[in-house]
Amino acid sequence: MLTNVPQVTFKTRVRDNSLSGDNPFRWQDLTSSEIFDNKKIVLFALPGAFTPTCSSTHLPGYDAHYDEFKALGVDEVYCLSVNDAFTMFQWSKNLAIKHVKMLPDGNAHFTRLMGMLVKKENLGFGDRSWRYSMLVENNKITALFSETGKMDNCSDDPFNCSDADTMINHLKA
Ligand code: BEZ
Repeated sequence: MLTNVPQVTFKTRVRDNSLSGDNPFRWQDLTSSEIFDNKKIVLFALPGAFTPTCSSTHLPGYDAHYDEFKALGVDEVYCLSVNDAFTMFQWSKNLAIKHVKMLPDGNAHFTRLMGMLVKKENLGFGDRSWRYSMLVENNKITALFSETGKMDNCSDDPFNCSDADTMINHLKA
């Protein structure tokens, strides 16, 4: 198992009210160091924005438990998917996500280095992330909940252990 999170740069979009026009957002690089250095971070990764289980349960579950994560000493909760920044932003907006930060890994650099990149060509998705969650303390992966049976072109995308409740139980133990 990896000990440290991969060092990559994510391409994110941030609101900038100094910009005029209908779309006051600009690109901003976000590095692994900026996310993980000297912080206790929960990150969960899923196969795709706007997909049914990810939308109904996985992402909303973490958002609903955000205050509990904070009370347990977690600094931030991130949702990662191999999707672009525009898609991740619109998905979060569509679900009225209040707290979880969206992490677009469109080039899959982080996911590949995590060893979590799988093919989903059976669904026309290309390469995506296997479903997992992890606790990261100052860049070190101290807990990893990866769904069993990681494989290419998985037909049923298991979702049993990378949920918010499992992570909360781990933090309380
Ligand atoms: C889902 O979250 O329901 C899902 C994820 C990947 C492929 C298909 C569905």
